[in-house]
Amino acid sequence: MEGVFYIAMFLAACAFSLANPLEKADCDLELLDSETGKVTYTTNQVSWGCLGQKPLNSTQEVHVLNLRFSKMVAELELTIQVKKGNVPQPRDVHVILKVQGHINLLLQTGIPVKFSLDPTKVFFKETGLDHSPLPDFSTREQLLNWAQTTHGDLTSYAEIEDPQSIILHVGQAPESEFPCIPKLNFNMGNHLTWNAVAPEVKGCRFSKGLSKKVAHILKVTQGPASSPQTVEVKMDLSCPLGNPAPTLEAVLILQGPPNVNWLIDSNHTMQIGTTGEYSFKMFPDKSIPGSILSDTLQGLLQEAQQKFNASIIGSYVEIPPASHITLWAPSCASKIETSPSPVLTTPSILICHLFLLRSLLLPQCSSDSMTLMLKKDLIEALKCNIKHLSFRDPTCQSQEKENMLVLSSTFYECGMDIKKGVILNNEVALTLTSSSVPVLTESVECLNISAFSVHMDAYKSQKFLRTSSTIELGQRVYVQVTVSPVIPEVTTNLDSCSLDLGPEADPVELIHDQLAKSPRVSLLTTDSKWIQFSFLLRGHMVPTPTTAILSCNVELMLRTMQETKTVMKTSMKLNISNPLATSLGMPAVLGITFGAFLIGALLTAALWYIYSHTRPPGKRQPVMAAVPASESSSTNHSIGSTQSTPCSTSSMA
Ligand SMILES: *[C@@H]1O[C@H](CO)[C@@H](O)[C@H](O)[C@H]1NC(C)=O
Ligand SMILES: *[C@@H]1O[C@H](CO)[C@@H](O)[C@H](O)[C@H]1NC(C)=O
Ligand SMILES: *[C@@H]1O[C@H](CO)[C@@H](O)[C@H](O)[C@H]1NC(C)=O
Ligand SMILES: *[C@@H]1O[C@H](CO)[C@@H](O)[C@H](O)[C@H]1NC(C)=O
Ligand SMILES: *[C@@H]1O[C@H](CO)[C@@H](O)[C@H](O)[C@H]1NC(C)=O
Repeated sequence: MEGVFYIAMFLAACAFSLANPLEKADCDLELLDSETGKVTYTTNQVSWGCLGQKPLNSTQEVHVLNLRFSKMVAELELTIQVKKGNVPQPRDVHVILKVQGHINLLLQTGIPVKFSLDPTKVFFKETGLDHSPLPDFSTREQLLNWAQTTHGDLTSYAEIEDPQSIILHVGQAPESEFPCIPKLNFNMGNHLTWNAVAPEVKGCRFSKGLSKKVAHILKVTQGPASSPQTVEVKMDLSCPLGNPAPTLEAVLILQGPPNVNWLIDSNHTMQIGTTGEYSFKMFPDKSIPGSILSDTLQGLLQEAQQKFNASIIGSYVEIPPASHITLWAPSCASKIETSPSPVLTTPSILICHLFLLRSLLLPQCSSDSMTLMLKKDLIEALKCNIKHLSFRDPTCQSQEKENMLVLSSTFYECGMDIKKGVILNNEVALTLTSSSVPVLTESVECLNISAFSVHMDAYKSQKFLRTSSTIELGQRVYVQVTVSPVIPEVTTNLDSCSLDLGPEADPVELIHDQLAKSPRVSLLTTDSKWIQFSFLLRGHMVPTPTTAILSCNVELMLRTMQETKTVMKTSMKLNISNPLATSLGMPAVLGITFGAFLIGALLTAALWYIYSHTRPPGKRQPVMAAVPASESSSTNHSIGSTQSTPCSTSSMA
């Protein structure tokens, strides 16, 4: 794709010059698509920042990052590194992350870090991210005051615009003696480095140029430091996805303040012009004096044209003081030149948030089909002009349905591949309107859920040896759920289980959301082979139900794709036996009652009478988990009581 974009730029430049056939001595710089040339830089300078005093023996650090993003949704890679050495290791690192805009946070940290952030603006994948809410502040002072009063003295403060990645070094020896009071264009030293993409890369073609020489001009603006500095410039002209241009004639022009020397890292042969000395990373000891004199835009363009005979400005970019600069300008052989396919130059292609878009390419799986849906307004928000999505079989393309882009296939078409007999695998390729080749392909998978079976058995003992289909009140029942086939790529979870005690009573929830709903339910093991749990039913129901249906929902999911989560149901019928009722039987109970009547204890019969005439006709509610602790001595580990009257309890006790 780079090749395409590069050529796109090239052709754009051609079109430009053709469109202006009349005298045009100069090269009018225009903004380029960011994929035709991209300049990233690493710097320690922030627009506002400070470093605070940190007591020598303190293990607590508070860092404030105040970030502004011009994109609607940006990616931020935040790396927190601990400086090794004999400084006290920070045990308590707090990062206050204030964001203007929305970001997808990719966090890398080797130590636990507490965050204060607004989760409606900062999205993160880590489920265990330790964070507390951050109020909204409109000014820097409000934020600083809040941070200071809530978390104590600040270790650092940095205000940054459009960072792509930030590396924060914690556990540094104190560098500053003063409280942290932000200063303009502050150099954070080795405490913080950040990486940004130069927002404005421009290019143009000299109207009179005949050669094919392409010049890249980098201008680094003056920073606060005047001590000698080396700026490393990495020049990457490779063509990762196509054929590199056979004859490459490139010129690199580096313009910077007088204190800057350049260290050039490149594999390509090219002409170089710099202000200040330069050397190559391959031969760092050999310095070559600079030759560029101009510091104005027009002067630089002129030097490119006259001194180096360049006819195209492949990129012109101005960046703030930086320590490392990477210029990526893919130079590919122009396969497009022989191809009639129109190459568009809409800048929008390049702003398209492909990374975020990729995270939206999630399959929805049914029992016999795979579907991907993208909401159009979301695509628009990500500034992507999508031509279509397609499966491995490129003739299977997405359709527009209402406000959606829908790509769907059964398990038997569109190049669907079967892995391990049960995993349906395909690839989704995304093609933008601006090109004829896909800009990304993403592997997608579904489970053939019909190929799975779930089986459940009940046992009387924890050894799970002999199955039993009877629940004995007051005795633990052990249940084992097995899913087959067992595949390492698939995780199984017991999502929920309940016991249906017939029309007379409400169902008893045993497990919900993979959690035991009562202390009388124990989840024993969940592994790839089986899931085991046990429960205990208490016998305080009148009349005691004789059967129960145990139903469980088992969740199956591909480890790598939460979207493939599918629920399978299983159930079994269990007889309920009441040891008391079977040993005495109902006639015996009545006999005892009658006997009691005979010996003059009329009370029992009276209560029985009252009970049987006042019992509400509706369902009885089995009481689950929350059995008062006082009860536990006699009715320990049992569940499933009704809201029984004293009579019913006594009739069974
Ligand atoms: C840190 O050092 C100061 C002064 O030496 C001392 O008063 C304080 O108790 C120390 N704090 C810790 C946590 O060790
Ligand atoms: C510049 O390039 C053109 C076209 O390749 C060539 O004819 C001309 O001699 C070159 N001029 C210099 C000064 O190298
Ligand atoms: C130079 O080439 C080597 C090997 O091909 C590669 O690993 C390295 O990244 C290249 N450097 C640059 C700056 O392109
Ligand atoms: C899915 O599984 C069912 C049952 O085993 C089988 O009949 C069917 O062919 C499978 N589908 C695919 C695409 O493999
Ligand atoms: C449950 O009880 C009924 C009636 O007593 C009996 O016919 C049936 O076989 C029992 N079922 C099981 C699974 O024990």
